[in-house]
Amino acid sequence: MILVAGGTGFIGRSVVKRLMAAGRDVAVMTAHPDRSRAVCEKMGVRAVAGDVQDEHSLPGAVEGADAVIQALTFPSFPVEKPSRGWTFEEFDHLGTARLARAAVGAGVKRFVYVSGSGAGPNAEKVWFRAKWLGEEALRMAALDHVIVRPSWIYGPEDVALNRFVSFYRLLPFVPVVGDGKQRLQPVFIRDVANVLAQAASPAGPTGTFEIGGPMVMTMNQVLTAMMDIMGKVKPLVHVPPVMPRMAGAVARFLPKPPLSPDAVDFLTGDALADNTALLNAFDVELTPLGEGLFTYLPPPPRRR
Ligand SMILES: NC(=O)c1ccc[n+]([C@@H]2O[C@H](COP(=O)([O-])OP(=O)(O)OC[C@H]3O[C@@H](n4cnc5c(N)ncnc54)[C@H](OP(=O)(O)O)[C@@H]3O)[C@@H](O)[C@H]2O)c1
Repeated sequence: MILVAGGTGFIGRSVVKRLMAAGRDVAVMTAHPDRSRAVCEKMGVRAVAGDVQDEHSLPGAVEGADAVIQALTFPSFPVEKPSRGWTFEEFDHLGTARLARAAVGAGVKRFVYVSGSGAGPNAEKVWFRAKWLGEEALRMAALDHVIVRPSWIYGPEDVALNRFVSFYRLLPFVPVVGDGKQRLQPVFIRDVANVLAQAASPAGPTGTFEIGGPMVMTMNQVLTAMMDIMGKVKPLVHVPPVMPRMAGAVARFLPKPPLSPDAVDFLTGDALADNTALLNAFDVELTPLGEGLFTYLPPPPRRR
């Protein structure tokens, strides 16, 4: 059985669907069974309760799994809420270490961790350092591990690019925080799910792999490609980051904060990946952005 921890999330749902389509026995670990029951029922998958903030809940959750795929984060991601323990340190570092410990204790053979491109011990940003520490916990654990570091993932159910799709539909322009010149390697969710499914196979590769799309593009280019497919390229209006940072400084005190100054940095940073190791180890062809978007974005309305 393959346990997908975070199988109700954006990445998790895709990998669950992929594994089930391949006839694999899959269960989903959720920290919110009541809230997430409907999602699991819709996917036709068994839900087990497990919370990475509660070490005692994890041994029961991983019991009987041959492999664990961890693709989870805190509910207000990327906005931290320390008073509830919703931080990168708590989830990516300590949560990964707790789940890996439980997996070793239950005799799980393989652990796949969705980290992030940019993870490193001396990274400037806390989210990259926390992911690195989670990776290290896994490297020291007594089981086969696969660490997958995606860049910026897009797909029909993403949060990031779909926000711009909504702006595009509602406004005569598309607002972008910053100058839009950050460099991204947008990677299609289907390619990420394909790699994660292979990574969970008993004979799959082990090690650390970055995954990004086949092209480096600026945010401005990504949004222009999106608008082009939807029929009309509208102007991009660049909002100086100081404005959302100031709004975030206030909003972070809300119960489920939508914004914080750090989150603005998170959203406007580069997201690049070196695919060399990945392409040598996995059977995957990385989908160009236009091709990926074309599979789900609505085409332009037909002219009479
Ligand atoms: N999306 C991207 O572009 C991207 C790129 C690079 C890396 N990543 C990394 O991939 C991971 C998953 O991202 P995502 O976009 O799929 O996230 P997401 O859609 O927000 O899903 C988060 C998942 O975490 C679970 N969760 C929340 N609290 C939990 C807890 N206390 N214990 C166990 N599970 C809990 C949720 O399940 P329940 O509510 O059912 O508990 C949900 O399934 C993150 O670590 C993220 O940094 C994402």
